[in-house]
Amino acid sequence: GKGAAMVTAVAYRLAAQHQARQKILEPLKLSHEQLLEVKERMRIEMEKGLGKETHAEATVKMLPTYVCSTPDGTEKGDFLALDLGGTNFRVLLVRVRNGMRRGVEMHNKIYSIPVEIMQGTGEELFDHIVHCISDFLEYMGMKGVSLPLGFTFSFPCQQNNLDEGILLKWTKGFKATGCEGEDVVGLLKEAIHRREEFDLDVVAVVNDTVGTMMTCGYEDPYCEVGLIVGTGSNACYMEEMRNVELVEGDEGRMCVNMEWGAFGDSGCLDDIRTEFDVAVDELSLNPGKQRYEKMISGMYLGEIVRNILMDFTKKGLLFRGRISERLKTRGIFETKFLSQIESFSTVLQETVKELSPKCEVTFLQSEDGSGKGAALITAVACRIREAGQR
Ligand code: GLC
Repeated sequence: GKGAAMVTAVAYRLAAQHQARQKILEPLKLSHEQLLEVKERMRIEMEKGLGKETHAEATVKMLPTYVCSTPDGTEKGDFLALDLGGTNFRVLLVRVRNGMRRGVEMHNKIYSIPVEIMQGTGEELFDHIVHCISDFLEYMGMKGVSLPLGFTFSFPCQQNNLDEGILLKWTKGFKATGCEGEDVVGLLKEAIHRREEFDLDVVAVVNDTVGTMMTCGYEDPYCEVGLIVGTGSNACYMEEMRNVELVEGDEGRMCVNMEWGAFGDSGCLDDIRTEFDVAVDELSLNPGKQRYEKMISGMYLGEIVRNILMDFTKKGLLFRGRISERLKTRGIFETKFLSQIESFSTVLQETVKELSPKCEVTFLQSEDGSGKGAALITAVACRIREAGQR
């Protein structure tokens, strides 16, 4: 009868809508062949970044980190670490012990960085950082003790030494003025002097990928890649010195901070970027920059989903075609919802296996990796410095 016909019509409409949505989602799924193609393009960009002649115009910068050795277990002492680059700023006190009681003990405090400060002047940003350090020292009852400090600063930096980092460009949500092209250790020291309250001995500037690799390397000496999929995305790995053409010397290995977030900035991923990736990029703080990062990391994935939902709705494929004010609000769909839906680890492991069948890759999750790692790198540097003074 009439009822049955209506049910059939509804079922038909739902199936058609489902199909239409799947069609829109198709370009977001990469085939095995496409993944191999992306891998090949990444390899080409990596070589450009490493090469002396090609580095200047390379987008994937492959930055030398001056981290050449992993902890050997003999490190010891108390260290301060700062961790800047994600959603929060952290100050840590890290106690490293050797011998029978080998291990790491940490105290830390989390501070938020208001958007006005992330996007204000460099002086305001570094004054705020020093204010947080001061609060932490007070809280730990440590005002007046000067400890060696490791600074996890998770942005692309050109390093000519372990204890210096010239900010090449801000990424993620930061855009404080007067910092690009400057040594961030210098900016930190100036802010400390302005406050005239305490002094700090900055030993190392460390990218979060490098800190993470070091933290895992402390437990497992075979760990030689660091990977971050957080607010931003990036990786580092131990590279043969002879391939690190920007640094003199051919012996041994050095950790290279890839800065792979900028992969695609040359246009080499244009054929796989979707209209949603382009929309998110265009409304970001740094259009055209960090294109790969914007396709995969936490700061942007939620926005990609929201853009897709809006597109569905405009085409009458969702919410009965009505776009609510909430759906129109930028940032309303958080990436954490996405990770609750797709809990994003067997897929990762299977895909890595598929793309590098000859490599045995295991993933270790690093607990508090970036800050603890900065302290470990500082500890190694102090051990080597003290050995040199003997
Ligand atoms: C951004 C930064 C990079 C950092 C990554 C993860 O890509 O440029 O230095 O490692 O975010 O935090």
